[in-house]
Amino acid sequence: MPAEGHILALDQGTTSTRAIVFRTPDLAPVASAQQEFAQYYPHSGWVEHEAEDLWETSLAVMREAIGKAGLTPAQIAGIGIANQRETTLVWDRCTGRPIHRAIVWQDRRTAATCAALREAGHAAAVAATTGLLIDPYFSATKIAWMLDAVPGARAVAERGELAFGTVDAFLLWRLTEGRVHATDATNAARTMLFDIRAGAWDAAMCDLFRVPMGMLPEVRDCAAEFGATTLLGAAIPVLGIAGDQQAATVGQACFEPGMVKSTYGTGCFALLNTGEAPVASSHRLLTTIAYQLRGQRTYALEGAIFVAGAAVQWLRDGLGIIKDAAESGALAAQSDPAGRLYLVPAFVGLGVPHWDAEARGTIHGLTRASGRADFARAALESVGYQTRDLVEAMQADMGAGARAVLRVDGGMVASDWTMQFLADVLGAPVDRPIIRETTALGAAYLAGLQAELCPEPAEFAARWQLDRRFSPAMAEAEREAAYRGWRRAVQRTLSEGA
Ligand code: G3P
Repeated sequence: MPAEGHILALDQGTTSTRAIVFRTPDLAPVASAQQEFAQYYPHSGWVEHEAEDLWETSLAVMREAIGKAGLTPAQIAGIGIANQRETTLVWDRCTGRPIHRAIVWQDRRTAATCAALREAGHAAAVAATTGLLIDPYFSATKIAWMLDAVPGARAVAERGELAFGTVDAFLLWRLTEGRVHATDATNAARTMLFDIRAGAWDAAMCDLFRVPMGMLPEVRDCAAEFGATTLLGAAIPVLGIAGDQQAATVGQACFEPGMVKSTYGTGCFALLNTGEAPVASSHRLLTTIAYQLRGQRTYALEGAIFVAGAAVQWLRDGLGIIKDAAESGALAAQSDPAGRLYLVPAFVGLGVPHWDAEARGTIHGLTRASGRADFARAALESVGYQTRDLVEAMQADMGAGARAVLRVDGGMVASDWTMQFLADVLGAPVDRPIIRETTALGAAYLAGLQAELCPEPAEFAARWQLDRRFSPAMAEAEREAAYRGWRRAVQRTLSEGA
């Protein structure tokens, strides 16, 4: 029965690590802590994280959040983990030490390997088994790269002495001091090694991508017993794990087929619940697992955009035209309404629907009058245009099976200007919930469900609360003309042969 208690959610994201303490059964946020960590760009298109940064910031923010909530560790009933997906870690089972920095999901170093596998005709088999397109985004080719690049690693891995994990599995290993090597079905589904229909690692995929199966973690439900940690000052069980986008899908209570959520973090990821059967996309969307509860998998179609909030960070850190991300909306509002500057932020290639790993960012429509405000507007608008690209792909796959309303969350949704443009360019309503930390909320819900401190999904869904609905206000002719301009800009951005 739902009861009063506290759940600690850990949201280990691409640029920062956050912990939030939620009170059950209503999952009201009580206290939070956040730390950013370094990004490493050793070559063009490469992105790495220091594994110890992921671990140390996780421990630090969890401790801080418990302290800020005025609780003792023993009062935390369970931990739910949501994590940046696909990011790849390989570590020594004896020492727990990673053999290389984590290779981040955005990293494109295996683009040539992926192209060769596509050319060799493996795309159909990979899609049929894993639901994914052969792209450097996913973990499989990153694992193989590490095993080949680190001297001796492949032989050690073949002997079973190395472990692979996405960030959740690595943190769980550290939290349980090496006792548990496990992940959940949603994270497994992003490796390109997992049979999403059978719910098991696939030997043929491991063979194709040259990954020894002995490295892989055990796969469990999203709400499950993952072992306990004593490192926070009391024995606390880890009871929930999901990839961050899947956790946000849960946090947005998108439990019914046809419901769509879109999360605006570093990138933007929209998931459309397709129910108990996986749907193969004809429009280059990904087929993935939305969540797995009590052994039952619910599937989703996913549209992945690699750069959303990262475009605003670029305005701040790359161009220096804003001091704070929050300024971008006000600055965009000052731009010349008659001007049309397009930024195609293909900083690490393009995801849905183009899957062009070699594309790089472009700006179109510059005039002598273009200034800071126009750049800010172009960056924010690029997020809306890209969302429309993937919502169109979803509608083309699902027809009336995809609902018109988009539930949004993540840091960028604080910008009313951006959300209004999103509704305008989609020509559809955009719903912003009261709790915008939806990823952490979803992780907390999974753990709370397992701890029997939270209600069943239907009741949790009934409690979802709207903060504001943004309704489209742009004339159709203007919307379509603007979107046509975006598509032209994208066409000019694609790499040769894409
Ligand atoms: O697939 C990558 C995704 O999980 C990263 O999410 O929120 O860190 O941009 P975020």
